[in-house]
Amino acid sequence: YRNLRIAILGAGSVGSQVAKLLLEHREELAQRVGAGLELVGVAVRDLDAPRRADIPRELLTTDAESLILGADIVVELIGGLEPARTHILTAINSGADVITGNKALLATHGPELFEAAEQVGAQLYYEAAVGGAIPIIRPLRDSLAGDRVERILGIVNGTTNFILDRMDSTGESLHDALAVATELGYAEADPTADIEGYDAAQKAAILASLAFHTSVPLEAVYREGITSITHDQVVAARKAGYVVKLLAICERATDPATGVHGVSARVHPALVPLAHPLAAVHGANNAVFLEAEAAGSLMFYGAGAGGLETASAVLGDLVSAARRHVVGGPGVAESTHADLPALPITAVTTRY
Ligand code: HSE
Repeated sequence: YRNLRIAILGAGSVGSQVAKLLLEHREELAQRVGAGLELVGVAVRDLDAPRRADIPRELLTTDAESLILGADIVVELIGGLEPARTHILTAINSGADVITGNKALLATHGPELFEAAEQVGAQLYYEAAVGGAIPIIRPLRDSLAGDRVERILGIVNGTTNFILDRMDSTGESLHDALAVATELGYAEADPTADIEGYDAAQKAAILASLAFHTSVPLEAVYREGITSITHDQVVAARKAGYVVKLLAICERATDPATGVHGVSARVHPALVPLAHPLAAVHGANNAVFLEAEAAGSLMFYGAGAGGLETASAVLGDLVSAARRHVVGGPGVAESTHADLPALPITAVTTRY
């Protein structure tokens, strides 16, 4: 095997889980990719900060720049605009592929980063930026690329869904439910980004850009958070047959003032009928419900927040990026694992 050198920037709730899983599953991933995935270092600001998953001390460094310059694949999980943007550009310009979960950066500087990558033939992967563990970026970019998406209704912020769900089921206050969400690692470093809808607006900009093959800037996304929602409103909504959800809505629309056809993207609390599949999305789960001309309605559902869950999306990107390095073209998914034979019916353990 040739070893591919992986650098991780950031050891927060997602970064530390990615490092841990990468080390634990080294052998299996190497077989799946056809090359070793060698974690060469994890760049952090403070070597002594407490981490959610243990990372061997010798892998930690405060010198992000040197780490990046010695890597084949750079995983950016610092969040925020700077220094993340500079680090990603450095990585791209040094010929590395980049994986990021940075929705703020993509929603703000996406076009600049994609163009930089295109110029040098590097790839930028960002499955973790929207919907945590849920595969939604690849389905929009690849599986649905031949269809025509009409509309997206998304629950894309786990923290607010968790809070609204608790207000509905236990009557807990927004403040108390947010404290629990923070404790569980769902909320952003500044939870205002969650409850005021900024996080969801960033994700809406990313989804709308991908779904409608355009560039929807963050400033074009209407945004309203959940801070004015009261327990009484949640109860009244349920009595009337609805549940209150913070939705990201992206759709093709026509501006009534100008007649211009374009994309409308907005985030605000909405009344979802109890019979709609989105009404059944509880806790910190996310779901993206979309309507496409040929495919009809599709829903993507799963854990939308949490370090371990989001690490799954990052590792998937890592395998894709690594496969690209190995075969020198678009990654192939058909590598097999010869140690796991198909078993006879007598080995069935789960009965339905
Ligand atoms: N704070 C975000 C959320 C994390 O609650 O959904 C995942 O992007």
